[in-house]
Amino acid sequence: MPPQDDFWKPLAPAFRADPRRTDDPLVERLARELQPGSTLLDVGGGAGRLALALALRCRRVTVVEPSESMMEELRIGAGKEGIRNVTVVASTWEAATVKPADAVLCSHVLYTVEDVDAFVRKLAAHAKKRVLLPMFMEGPQSHLPPFWERVHREQRAVLPALKELMAVLWEMGIYPDLEMLESVPPPHYDDRDNALRDLRFRLYVQPGTEKDRLLQRAMKELLVESEDGLAIMGAGSRRLGLASWSTD
Ligand SMILES: C[S@@+](CC[C@H](N)C(=O)[O-])C[C@H]1O[C@@H](n2cnc3c(N)ncnc32)[C@H](O)[C@@H]1O
Repeated sequence: MPPQDDFWKPLAPAFRADPRRTDDPLVERLARELQPGSTLLDVGGGAGRLALALALRCRRVTVVEPSESMMEELRIGAGKEGIRNVTVVASTWEAATVKPADAVLCSHVLYTVEDVDAFVRKLAAHAKKRVLLPMFMEGPQSHLPPFWERVHREQRAVLPALKELMAVLWEMGIYPDLEMLESVPPPHYDDRDNALRDLRFRLYVQPGTEKDRLLQRAMKELLVESEDGLAIMGAGSRRLGLASWSTD
């Protein structure tokens, strides 16, 4: 059963992307693993950012996704583009029952998974040929600690990412290829209202509270004007890697 509380609701539209884009190095790299007759399983496929683009390059894509809002965005994207070879399974990966596919993709999902060992073993067991895990080397929210510390007056626990996953995979006896892909620019905001909305959500701050006042003070200190809008002081590009291995 999908979780009751849909964390992704306010974020889901931002996970949509044009399936016919030709300038996405990650899509191009993943497409190299597929033939027109291949099948792909995209675990935690979200709004179909990768699934829809790759569905245009293979026979069938199955997306396993627990978030209702993400699935809704995926359906809208597929409908708009007339993409009909994508099946969505509404479930967490832990609870899903699906058939194996030639390639299994799990992009930017493992940061928050508690039992990584079981999750990865299930991914591998469903891959007839290859497992593909694109992730950031550092946690995707690694720009948040300076805000967190100013608002909550405590250190923020940083989520594990690809660096830590490599050690876990080695411990499991899996020795993946690791490729570094193009870095992704640091997050930025179009304007101050946008920044406040996003940071309140990510830091669990309610409008009008003392923590909200601290957040707005932190924003004055940490947001700087840039050519893209408002940048976060000290936030650098995010290094994207692809861990992958053959299972056949
Ligand atoms: C950061 S988004 C990435 C979406 C997509 N893979 C992409 O790269 O655009 C993480 C996604 O993983 C999904 N997710 C989180 N935990 C999951 C789990 N245990 N099983 C399956 N999907 C999960 C979320 O619902 C969300 O859609």
